[in-house]
Amino acid sequence: MDVSAQVATARAPAKINIYLGVGPRRRDGFHDLATVFHALRVGDDVVAERDDKGRVTVTVEAGEAGDSGAVDVDAVPADESNLAARAAQSLRRYAGVECGVHLRIVKRIPVAGGLAGGSADAAAALLACDSVWDTGCGKAELATIGARLGSDVPFALHGGTVLGSGRGERLAPVMAPVRLHWVLAIAEGGLSTPKVYGQLDTMRAASMVPAPQVPPELLTALRVGDLDAVGDHLANDLQPAALRLRPALQDVLDAGADLGAVGGVVSGSGPTVALLARDERHADQMAAGLVARQVCRDAVATTGAASGARLISRST
Ligand code: C5P
Repeated sequence: MDVSAQVATARAPAKINIYLGVGPRRRDGFHDLATVFHALRVGDDVVAERDDKGRVTVTVEAGEAGDSGAVDVDAVPADESNLAARAAQSLRRYAGVECGVHLRIVKRIPVAGGLAGGSADAAAALLACDSVWDTGCGKAELATIGARLGSDVPFALHGGTVLGSGRGERLAPVMAPVRLHWVLAIAEGGLSTPKVYGQLDTMRAASMVPAPQVPPELLTALRVGDLDAVGDHLANDLQPAALRLRPALQDVLDAGADLGAVGGVVSGSGPTVALLARDERHADQMAAGLVARQVCRDAVATTGAASGARLISRST
């Protein structure tokens, strides 16, 4: 009996880094990280449909507005260079699959926003393709394939709140039982991740960079749900570099502080700013306040930690 699906849909979350410590540039060009990844409710869907002619194709469309504001889908390549298509090809080669797939990416995660949207699409594509091709790969194998495609793909598969090390692909659990309310301030246009890392290297060229470490106080704060202490320890070594490239992000951080944010930080390589709210109502108020002040293109209230990539439908 053929148990593989004809069509399968997987959803994968956006992420922020509650803490992002960046070590010196490594010989392979990457940087060692000490980070706390945090998955958000907002996420992308990838619908995989078997292609018996062996082609791997991709289309990209905007998801329903509301959860992340308008998404610039024209900035996402709809060809074999798309990270989801590359993920499908990697799995196909790994599992020796002859069948192809059409991937329909439904994007809600802002593009080039420091929210790992490309990695989310790759993670969702791996799960959805695994389902339509019935490869029998487990999540650990998919994470290994995913790590070669992007540093954040293993986390997009895992979800939750976790410690990340290496270049971000090594994950360890963190106790963080309390739901957190966030506002994402979405900027006009993206920032290139390699450029932001390069800017950081330039800014630190004259200094000795120590190995990064997540502050134990932050881990305690997450464990006991001490919101103010979490807010105090939000930090990102890439933030000064993102601010140098996009000085207007300081206005977003200032406006967040003015609107009572418990803390605020540039997410990953930016330019999205994540602001921690006291509760759902405060998050909605803060989002409306940021939009009214016109310091960002859009502002969206969301929550974490969300689960990692998962199948949401399957039909044979
Ligand atoms: O792995 P990913 O494709 O997300 O990385 C994009 C770029 O970000 C890399 O080419 C590298 O310039 C930079 N990067 C880094 N160190 C990391 C992760 C990413 O320098 N740990």
